[in-house]
Amino acid sequence: MIVNKINFGNNLILAPMAGVSDVGFREVCSILGADATYSEMLSCRAMLHNPKKTELMTITSPFEKIKIGQIFGHEPSIMAQSIFSPLLNNYQIIDINMGCPAPKIVKNGEGCALMKDLTLASKIISECKKVSKVPISVKFRLGYNQDISLEFGRMCEESGANFVTLHARTAEQGYSGKANYEAIAKLKQSLHIPVIGNGDVIDKSSYKEMLATGVDGVMIGRGAQGRPWIFSELLDKSFNGNKFEIIKHHVEVLRKYYDENWLTLYLRKHFLWYASNIEGASQIRLKIAISPSINESLEYLKELFNK
Ligand SMILES: Cc1cc2nc3c(=O)[nH]c(=O)nc-3n(C[C@H](O)[C@H](O)[C@H](O)COP(=O)(O)O)c2cc1C
Repeated sequence: MIVNKINFGNNLILAPMAGVSDVGFREVCSILGADATYSEMLSCRAMLHNPKKTELMTITSPFEKIKIGQIFGHEPSIMAQSIFSPLLNNYQIIDINMGCPAPKIVKNGEGCALMKDLTLASKIISECKKVSKVPISVKFRLGYNQDISLEFGRMCEESGANFVTLHARTAEQGYSGKANYEAIAKLKQSLHIPVIGNGDVIDKSSYKEMLATGVDGVMIGRGAQGRPWIFSELLDKSFNGNKFEIIKHHVEVLRKYYDENWLTLYLRKHFLWYASNIEGASQIRLKIAISPSINESLEYLKELFNK
């Protein structure tokens, strides 16, 4: 897929994941084959009024190929103003979050709440588009509580979006059930702009199923948690390197920017994901869950991966 001369290469994309897709994780996913990576969602209001708070979230890695910054908010003028924030300077594309179902976002009329107000959503896209020097995209779900993805996708296209991403579930569904690939295929058929398909790609067979919808790109979220090597596996470059070295690399990047105490707590979930789905790892998972230091957890993971 090519958007305004930006070539998406293998069209494999790491999803935006708040609290997960940190700069270290994005770096290892990029090394292992993700050709585009998203920031965690960034509040437009925070970027304008308290930029220090957002600064750490906008650190990017030189290994990231296409860097996409994702913003969220509900006020067209504030969102358009945020496009000028120096915090977004590193990104080649700005994505607007219209799919987040988290109550604290939805109650402010942001994220997937915008799928209930197409006029406002359209105004946000067109105002951002008017001032942006880089392409604008939109990530959304099927709808809030029913499938309106075709109508919503057309609105995005008419409002000026350069491409869209569909996570094929409603907000009410959360993460339950299975993503509706038929809806993704229909959206692809009815739009002229590129469509990225998202939801439940976790292995080769689900990847093939997603590609069969005709999408221009495939976005992977939870399938990469604890398994950044999924990208090389899907590209038929089965990963033969040392997985423990990848984990260490992830940690080393983060240590350049974050305080060790904060990281110790933050990294626990990543370490537990790295140690999941491995036979005989249950004891090690218990030890990681209560480990007081990163180095101790790394020793456990080394034992597991170098067995
Ligand atoms: C922990 C977590 C955080 C997420 N944060 C964001 C976010 O900041 N912005 C966004 O658009 N989607 C976010 N998502 C949704 C994912 O980008 C993706 O749409 C969803 O997980 C479905 O894809 P998957 O089945 O490949 O995981 C998040 C998902 C998870 C699990």
